[in-house]
Amino acid sequence: MTSQQQKRRNVRRRIFYLKRAAALGTVILLTGILALLLLSCMADKSTEPAAQKTQAGQPRPANAAMPVSRGEAPAAPTVPTVQNVPDGWKQIDLSESALREGTLVLVNNQIAFDDSIPETVTVYDQKDGSYLVKDIYLSVTQETMDALNEWMDAFAAETGIRDVNIVAGWRSFQDQTGLYENAVSNRGQAYADAYIALPGHSEHHTGLAVDLDTYDVESGASGGFDGEEDYAWAVEHAWEFGFIQRYPEAKSEITGINFESWHFRYVGLPHAYVMRSENLCLEEYIDYLRGYPFSGRHLNVTCFDNNYEIYFCPKDQVVVPSSGDYRVSGNNVDGFIVVIELP
Ligand code: DAL
Ligand code: ZN
Repeated sequence: MTSQQQKRRNVRRRIFYLKRAAALGTVILLTGILALLLLSCMADKSTEPAAQKTQAGQPRPANAAMPVSRGEAPAAPTVPTVQNVPDGWKQIDLSESALREGTLVLVNNQIAFDDSIPETVTVYDQKDGSYLVKDIYLSVTQETMDALNEWMDAFAAETGIRDVNIVAGWRSFQDQTGLYENAVSNRGQAYADAYIALPGHSEHHTGLAVDLDTYDVESGASGGFDGEEDYAWAVEHAWEFGFIQRYPEAKSEITGINFESWHFRYVGLPHAYVMRSENLCLEEYIDYLRGYPFSGRHLNVTCFDNNYEIYFCPKDQVVVPSSGDYRVSGNNVDGFIVVIELP
């Protein structure tokens, strides 16, 4: 081999080793990049839950869901503390079911009453001779019962009429379903929607509503209750006993139900009085009361020489007097109405 050939051979050998070294370097570099990518992915994953955690002591955004871990019980919701509760007042914690209790629960085709069954008494057992009742099963809440007796007694005493017949009180979901389906079959969808609440959406589920009719004991004829002429007194004075005519003609756009002269709802005093003086149906009254929050100006009402203070509390921020009597009713939507009878 000449020296020229020897040189070329050495050059080729160097190039060969250089290429091998470059290839090896590239492989090492790529492996390193891959390892770095893998590590950064893992690091990202491990920080995800921390980003969703709510720091203790920091307010949770109103629309944030409570974090729930698989296999663990969901964290108990905490009641936000009302800031600066003044002396003489205290915050109370009412359960979600309390929202559906009380004489001011709002029930309509948009707002359902849950499937719980209110405690009721049978009208037949507790009524006197001032009026009639359809059967021995018809029932209403005790408070509605007492007010109904007083109302019908006063009506009979005033007019001598004793033929008002109570034909509906508390109704089950199944009863309302049958009623609605019969109305659709016999009188058409439009009639059913105008006069019969959807099952689960009837005030009759609350035990606070009654339907009035008339019944002639001699002839056995039912006359309907139009609330006119001899019966006008009962409608005119219903508020004095805590009842409202729930579906007035002028409010049908709001209530979603056509005028029902026969359907009365017990809300109690002083609410029936305020609703009448301010010309508010129940949907409007519930909204009106939101304008009197605990933190703002309260509504002061005088009715039959009694003075009342009324205010609204959002459902998890209920504040009541630390001593003395008060009444609380859920509104079945978003809060509670507190009534204090002042001395
Ligand atoms: N008639 C009323 C709206 C009801 O069905 O409850
Ligand atoms: Zn009714």
